[in-house]
Amino acid sequence: MITKLFTTLLLASLPVLSSAAEVAPASDWIEHSRQLALQLGSELKGELGKAMAAGGPVAAISVCRERAPAIAARLSRESGATVGRTALRVRNPANAPDELQRTLLEQFSGELASGKFTPPLEAAFEMRRGELVERRYMRAIPTEPVCLTCHGKTLTPELAAAIARDYPEDQATGFEQGQLRGAFTVTWPAAAPPSAH
Ligand code: HEC
Repeated sequence: MITKLFTTLLLASLPVLSSAAEVAPASDWIEHSRQLALQLGSELKGELGKAMAAGGPVAAISVCRERAPAIAARLSRESGATVGRTALRVRNPANAPDELQRTLLEQFSGELASGKFTPPLEAAFEMRRGELVERRYMRAIPTEPVCLTCHGKTLTPELAAAIARDYPEDQATGFEQGQLRGAFTVTWPAAAPPSAH
């Protein structure tokens, strides 16, 4: 199932734990993160499908606008992690990546484009912040045919106008099937490593 999973060096400026064993057990938090990302993805797809079927894509925009942040907020509250979505080109500026997320997104994007890796692409990493360890998980979201209605190269004029009204800074069009659309992100609050004295 996992084609790529790594505790990785991302930014030279940040001290990164090279060995997951130092803060083990790694598998628990990674599996929990994966479940949160999958949950967000499946709830969003369910809501999107229902909204598209009921009212068409223009009506579905408001569902994306209201439900996507609401579901992410609920999963964050329930888990204690920060769960969300990000992308290199965002529709909602609130979803813009931080430096680390951008680096990972560029890596995912290159891997998808190379054709050498097939989804799911995931990354998990642990960074030391002083005495604490911050854990992060990301999972690539490839563009599927259903996404092209609102994120593809050609939008109906009615849909383009509705998106421009709600998202005047929209950058999230022009995608093709199979390209990286974005990623689910799960960030755990920095915590003491289990091995710390
Ligand atoms: C009905 C139109 C519509 C469809 C279809 C749609 N999206 Fe979106 N998408 C949106 C809107 C609107 C937002 C902004 C949501 C917000 O305000 O958080 C968005 C935001 C996103 C984001 C968050 C990053 C950003 O750009 O702000 C991702 C990732 C994303 N969509 C992926 C997808 C994928 C993958 C599909 C197909 C499975 C898809 N979308 C289908 C309208 C759509």
